Amino acid sequence: MDINLSGRDFLKLLDYSKEEILYLLGLAKVLKEKKKNHESHEYLKGKNVVLLFEKDSTRTRCAFEVGAMDLGMGVTYLGPTGSQMGKKESIADTAQVLSRMYDGIEYRGFEQTVVEELAKNSSVPVWNGLTNEFHPTQMLADMLTVEENFGDLHGRKLVFLGDARNNVACSLMVVCAKLGIHFACCAPKELFPPEALVETCKEIASKEGSTIVLTENALEGVANADVIYTDVWVSMGEDASLWAKRIELLKPYQVNKEIMSHAKENAIFLHCLPSFHDTNTQIGKEIYEKFGISEMEVTDEVFNSSSSKVMDQAENRLHTIKAVMYATLKDE
Ligand code: CP
Ligand code: NVA
Repeated sequence: MDINLSGRDFLKLLDYSKEEILYLLGLAKVLKEKKKNHESHEYLKGKNVVLLFEKDSTRTRCAFEVGAMDLGMGVTYLGPTGSQMGKKESIADTAQVLSRMYDGIEYRGFEQTVVEELAKNSSVPVWNGLTNEFHPTQMLADMLTVEENFGDLHGRKLVFLGDARNNVACSLMVVCAKLGIHFACCAPKELFPPEALVETCKEIASKEGSTIVLTENALEGVANADVIYTDVWVSMGEDASLWAKRIELLKPYQVNKEIMSHAKENAIFLHCLPSFHDTNTQIGKEIYEKFGISEMEVTDEVFNSSSSKVMDQAENRLHTIKAVMYATLKDE
């Protein structure tokens, strides 16, 4: 089947078919190879993209910037302050103005409805660089990393431990369902993913022959896992007052040596990053002083172990985001 994604938005993976996701992964592999071989791939010379960030970022911003530059494009970054968007100018007006100047728009911010509204009013592709609900570009990097490690995706088992309602956990559930990967999340019930999304994913997964399991029992959940995944316990945009409660709720779901020992022997550890695995960050230090815990969602030992593929995963943000830009901006 011929896949053509020219002109498409990239807002959430529920909008993409299995074949389209696999196509993007294939393209990322080709682009990664070219980059490694220092082979020029300025296929989109003359085009320009704008990056709208209402939340902070290292990986996503750098991946879009370097990806765009590698493809020969110009890039404008608009940070959390300084643009008119939202304050003096509506999302709809912003989308129309930017569409007159740019060939593609990336957005990282709060509600998913904002990125959907941008896309509705834009005549150029809009890419979701993380919202409260979803983080779809992260998923492509994660899947590429899993595939690079095991040589395949279908039938593998990925287990998420932690705040299973967050953008990363929900997106993992979607991508696993679409690609036929068994997905389990281990979390206290109050942090389980939204029911409607679970139902949707279960339907998709059953067609692909995979399962979606939600459990409060971490050791049971991680049995037979190929991939153990976690994320921060409090996400960007959430109130800092939540830390106390989250630490109490999520401490039993910390990824440590014992958790890893209950997964498959060759299981890998993934994390979207940034991560609190020591006290070498401002927040990590504050949490230690306040709550006496020096490692949160993952221990330093696991983070730095040979099972940890988090730096490969971070690098793959570049190749996969580049694939999304190339596939959606190239001429038909
Ligand atoms: N994983 C991820 O999105 O990282 P950044 O917040 O640094 O972009
Ligand atoms: N759940 C995290 C992901 C960061 C990449 C957050 O939204 O802050």
